[in-house]
Amino acid sequence: MKLALITGGSKGLGKALVQLYLDLGWEVREFSRSGVGPNHVPCDFADAVQSSTVLQQTFTELSSGAWTDVVLINNVGTLDPIGPLELTDSVSWPKHVQINISSCVSATGLFLQLFSTRAARRLIVNISSGAASTPYHGWSLYCASKAALEALTRCVALEQKEQPNPTKVIAIRPGVIDTQMQSTIRSQDPEHFKEKAKFVQLKSEQLLLSPRDAAHKVHAIIVASPKSGEVYDVRSA
Ligand SMILES: NC(=O)c1ccc[n+]([C@@H]2O[C@H](COP(=O)([O-])OP(=O)(O)OC[C@H]3O[C@@H](n4cnc5c(N)ncnc54)[C@H](OP(=O)(O)O)[C@@H]3O)[C@@H](O)[C@H]2O)c1
Repeated sequence: MKLALITGGSKGLGKALVQLYLDLGWEVREFSRSGVGPNHVPCDFADAVQSSTVLQQTFTELSSGAWTDVVLINNVGTLDPIGPLELTDSVSWPKHVQINISSCVSATGLFLQLFSTRAARRLIVNISSGAASTPYHGWSLYCASKAALEALTRCVALEQKEQPNPTKVIAIRPGVIDTQMQSTIRSQDPEHFKEKAKFVQLKSEQLLLSPRDAAHKVHAIIVASPKSGEVYDVRSA
């Protein structure tokens, strides 16, 4: 029996990953606000207490299963707020950090606490972005949160190395994907996001990956014995 835990699995890349794992016959749980169906776990990652409680309860219930493989994919992410930091709403700053980073810290920490005593092969995949290492005007929080996610990946992998049965932790940059996130980028005022034209062009030249193709590229990295602590990019895999 194999288990995939996927955050932000109601739309875009996360939804395609949910479908891919279901097609492979895995048991799947996806955590989001608007998902539907038997695999959906209602969860708002902007709410630290509610989301942490949901993760803890769900992981606790599932951790006693006789799994041979368990994968956690920290896929949830938001770009909001877009724009030069000082022009954005201060209320949105901690919300962004909560969704893009704190939720991944909680999911990762609880996963390690609740699944580490299991004999199952365990893998944590953090969905990052090229924005982790390339600064974009108007994406200060997004670039910072993805860089933090990659640092978290490296550090937790280092810590896990000392464990007798370590959990592998990797980060994957999934490429530019035709999802709601890209529509949001293309709808920005160029004053708020100076590189809008580049993303409009990528779409018009049909250079965006479909969510399904991106999910398959992410999965190809996962099954190719990735090295714990590494950051992979689907464009160079
Ligand atoms: N699209 C790209 O070109 C691209 C490029 C590089 C990296 N990425 C990364 O890939 C990942 C997926 O991106 P995507 O393009 O598929 O995004 P998307 O289409 O906007 O989907 C985002 C997912 O996150 C969930 N989510 C957002 N806020 C949430 C909240 N407060 N609580 C619970 N769930 C929440 C959404 O579910 P609900 O709305 O139902 O809650 C949805 O399932 C992100 O980490 C993103 O940074 C994307």
